[in-house]
Amino acid sequence: MTEPQHVFRRPPGPDQPVTLGIDAETLATLQGLQHEHGDMVSMIRPNGRLAYFVNDASEVRRILARRHSKYHKGPGFERVKMLLGNGLIVSDGDVWRRSRTMIQPAFSRQNVHRLMAVMVECCDRRAVRWAAAAAEGRTINITEETCDFALELILISTFGDDFDNRIMAGGENPFAFLSRDSTRDLSVVMKVRHLRALLRDIIADRRAGKGSQHFDFLSMYLAATDKQGNKFNDAELLDELMTLIVAGFETSANTLNWVWYLVAKHPDIEAKLIDEAQELVPNVSAVTAENLAAMQYTQQALEEALRLYPPVWLFTRRSHAEDELEDYDVPAGTDIYLSPFILHRTAHYWSEPERFDPDRFAPGDKPKKDRPYFPFSLGPRRCLGEYFSFLEMKVHLGLLLPRFRMRLLDDAQPELELAINLRSAEDIHVQPEVR
Ligand code: HEM
Repeated sequence: MTEPQHVFRRPPGPDQPVTLGIDAETLATLQGLQHEHGDMVSMIRPNGRLAYFVNDASEVRRILARRHSKYHKGPGFERVKMLLGNGLIVSDGDVWRRSRTMIQPAFSRQNVHRLMAVMVECCDRRAVRWAAAAAEGRTINITEETCDFALELILISTFGDDFDNRIMAGGENPFAFLSRDSTRDLSVVMKVRHLRALLRDIIADRRAGKGSQHFDFLSMYLAATDKQGNKFNDAELLDELMTLIVAGFETSANTLNWVWYLVAKHPDIEAKLIDEAQELVPNVSAVTAENLAAMQYTQQALEEALRLYPPVWLFTRRSHAEDELEDYDVPAGTDIYLSPFILHRTAHYWSEPERFDPDRFAPGDKPKKDRPYFPFSLGPRRCLGEYFSFLEMKVHLGLLLPRFRMRLLDDAQPELELAINLRSAEDIHVQPEVR
């Protein structure tokens, strides 16, 4: 008797090839496909590769968490590689596992708490500028300000004194272009080369016992060892530092940009946030891990901002082993697309999904596991900086929101720029007022 032949079970989808990138057209394409074919859609990309768009909450969890070992990073990461080499975000398999094991301890709560003073210092730097602008009746570009805040914070957290002494020695922040220049052209290649040379010098001095004596990420990365007791070599360290800087500032910066916008649009929510901040962090000496943990409403407002505007709005993966999703086969080599942006705004899971409502995340409201919510991803590759970023954003809002009211110059809803990160297409300008 012959064995019954296995029929390849493929989700429904269009007959024509579909072009997918990481851009606004791709969002429209994916939304259209979901509308027409449902939560599991298959298609062929113009390069002939099979691709699935997965918009089902439990299948997303399966790909990112339970079956993560069958999937590697997917299309689009080649471009990121130019900037980050083979650092944690881009690497896969054993290289990723080794780096993750070495780096994870640096992000323990205890270590992040030691960086709270840097968070306060970076807020002070902004407050001085904003107070001057308010006094002179000048407007400020809050998109640029939140970028500079988050960039300075990650650079001081990583390099300690070497930020002021070495990185800013020329008067200009050589990393600033990372937030301003989304193109990845030749001039960016040159600037990245320059940055890597600068970091190589700082690493060499640290290895020689010179440079910052501060507690910072670089010292922790230098001391990290793998299971065999080996440390990072210079090339690995450079990739991991570039990864830390890029992963560590644009996401938090974009979130804070949206929060300032949302708060300006919702005075009732703003008032609650201010009350909480005045009660728990009335001055810098009250900025403690306990008080920040108690900022429940601020936590909810941040989670809600990340629901509406997840900075990493599209995830891609490529299966390297066969898998099954629902009743469908996933052959090795299938490209997978998942979008927190789409799932976070699906009416089936979220009532009035377009509305900014921090109460959705109130304790006792629907548990998070019942709703698809993954701004930091899920599973073993979940963001390492989640705790750091919540602390930094709470310190930022806790210290700055009660001091400054930001009036929007343009009341219109900002357009979205959907690139590797989701940001406002135009910078947001505000008139600061000291309260
Ligand atoms: C609001 C802030 C942030 C958001 C929404 C965010 C989101 C994410 C997401 C979605 C991933 C996984 C990407 C993927 O698998 O394709 C990721 C990975 C990562 N993030 Fe974050 N991130 C934030 C802040 C930070 C900060 C502040 C740091 C560092 C200080 C950081 C460090 C990392 C690292 C190292 C990884 C790679 C983890 C791995 O692959 O093992 N992130 N982040």
